[in-house]
Amino acid sequence: TWEMKDFGEQKIEEIRKVANGKKVLCALSGGVDSSVAAVLVHKAIGDDLTCIFVDHGLLRKNEGDDVERIFRERFKMNLIRVNAKDRFLGKLKGVEDPERKRKIIGEEFIRVFEEESNKLGKIDYLVQGTIYPDVVESGTDTSQVIKSHHNVGGLPEDIEFELIEPLRELFKDEVRVLGEELGIPHDLVYRQPFPGPGLGIRVLGEVTEEKLEIVREADHIFREEIAKHNLDETIWQYFAALPNVRSVGVMGDGRTYSHLIALRAVNSTDGMTSEWSRIPYEVLDIVSRRIVNEVPGVNRIVYDITSKPPSTIEWE
Ligand code: XMP
Repeated sequence: TWEMKDFGEQKIEEIRKVANGKKVLCALSGGVDSSVAAVLVHKAIGDDLTCIFVDHGLLRKNEGDDVERIFRERFKMNLIRVNAKDRFLGKLKGVEDPERKRKIIGEEFIRVFEEESNKLGKIDYLVQGTIYPDVVESGTDTSQVIKSHHNVGGLPEDIEFELIEPLRELFKDEVRVLGEELGIPHDLVYRQPFPGPGLGIRVLGEVTEEKLEIVREADHIFREEIAKHNLDETIWQYFAALPNVRSVGVMGDGRTYSHLIALRAVNSTDGMTSEWSRIPYEVLDIVSRRIVNEVPGVNRIVYDITSKPPSTIEWE
């Protein structure tokens, strides 16, 4: 991996030349690409970089605190965490349609980011974790590190700045190698894909704090057991969803009428198609028992055995 090391050093040098002493902003999500891009730029210009992390309250268990710990404490980055859970839940109140939920979450995300960046005054550059497949899709020159901002998907259109996109030449696996080279924890660099709208589309129908709490705890147990059984690097994506169905059960000497949790685990290379993962029954058994015992409000677990197509990976 000395090639990646060289690549990293060369990019750091390039970024330092253009952005040193300028005001640079980054939207950090905790995802692989934005994390690697941010650390690279931070190595080049240190405190001239400010990262904004919008916590929409739809993240997995401990995720927000992990992002904060890694980037603020370990990398000593200038990180602004915006706790916007109440805003997002307020906007989502009463909304059931999956596409409307996505749109609301996306728009609110931009609004929060915009408000925070406005507080910082004029920004010169925005860091983006764009990687080679995204560049090819958009049909622009792959070798440019800096390009002007015109209508980047999902970003405010009226902010004036140029983009720093240091990962434009790299494929995902190369980004991961570079990330580890830069000292980013292995778990973060190899983490599974997680959708931008987060748990907002894993609670089916209306999103409430109570349902988020249930799916978050169930998902945490599932992920913990997958890791414990060394399956985390063989399964492409795995998570719990809350289908918003209640069913009858019996616990102790009483009847229950509680939520159902669906477990989903798939193998895929790009998310376009997928096959359900043949997780050993013994592991599913442990996960099922743990969730019903440890998560109040859940009395039944199902495992999703459909491939994509005809299903999608997410339930919404
Ligand atoms: P589907 O459910 O369409 O998912 O089979 C394919 C991959 O895309 C992810 N996904 C999303 N990612 N915003 C995202 O950033 C979204 O709205 C979204 N919906 C699905 C999904 O997790 C899977 O990896």
